[in-house]
Amino acid sequence: MSNPIIQFDDVSFSYAGTDSFALQSVSLEIKEGEYVAILGLNGAGKTTLGLCVNGIVPTMLGGNLTGKVTVGGLDVSEYPVRELAKLVGIVFDNPEFQMSQMSAAEEVALGLEHAGVPHEAMHEIVSDSLAMVGLAGFEARSPLGLSGGQQQRLAIAAVLAMKPRILIMDEPTSNLDPIGKQEVFDMAAKLNGEQGMTVIVIEHEVEVMARYADRVIVMDGGRVVMNGTPQEIFSRVDELAALKLRVPEAVALAKQLEARGVWKGDFPVRTETAVDRVNAMLKA
Ligand SMILES: Nc1ncnc2c1ncn2[C@@H]1O[C@H](COP(=O)(O)OP(=O)(O)OP(=O)(O)O)[C@@H](O)[C@H]1O
Ligand SMILES: [Mg+2]
Repeated sequence: MSNPIIQFDDVSFSYAGTDSFALQSVSLEIKEGEYVAILGLNGAGKTTLGLCVNGIVPTMLGGNLTGKVTVGGLDVSEYPVRELAKLVGIVFDNPEFQMSQMSAAEEVALGLEHAGVPHEAMHEIVSDSLAMVGLAGFEARSPLGLSGGQQQRLAIAAVLAMKPRILIMDEPTSNLDPIGKQEVFDMAAKLNGEQGMTVIVIEHEVEVMARYADRVIVMDGGRVVMNGTPQEIFSRVDELAALKLRVPEAVALAKQLEARGVWKGDFPVRTETAVDRVNAMLKA
């Protein structure tokens, strides 16, 4: 966790044909190996920020970009998305929509083919990638015959096959049930913890952020308005409320207890911490 792998230097962007800013004066740094969560209302600029990191903005989705986005030392506006795809993998919310092949193996091999990886090398990469997401042996399965959580993990395997250093997940679990969500986030945490992969997740569920992220970035109207650890960010309850954003239930509970003079000290961002603290209070 040392070098910045992603750097936004006073970046503003408006999509072609619009005169409003999707991103406004964004400056931020993400270090290699960080797990960063991005929070914000609809239209805040979260997806646009993610698309800047893999170069889709401004290379494929055009518009007016000022400032500079540097990823792995490369200025994204100067490299084709195909080139950046080796560095940055991105997964969107609807796994079914991302599936186009007859088998899981073909689904994972697709990007490798586009990248010109020789056929002999593909076999191993495909099975390794499936194993990484807990789908070992699923090569011959039809993608459409998988559960939502499995489909989303398959989409992630297809991205991992390209061996990216950065994984971006844009609301990756919005169509999944609680178990499917858990599977996807646990897997990303594993890739982050064991392989030092940099993970950026765009997410609405603040409990999930509190559990997994090293850092939370809050966006509003195209700007980065808060940037800190989950503990720092979710303690700023009133500011988040002014932005119409929720805090984890554990924080909300502590905040109400504080108003009654019962709670003292830091707010707990995780449920387990709240339970431990309440338990200790009851015993005191
Ligand atoms: N392809 C596009 N063309 C024109 N404007 C766009 C395009 N995509 C997004 N925008 C605009 O850019 C702004 C930021 O949108 P963005 O999709 O980045 O927000 P978001 O935070 O991801 O929202 P959501 O939570 O709804 O996914 C919005 O005002 C949106 O209308
Ligand atoms: Mg979005």
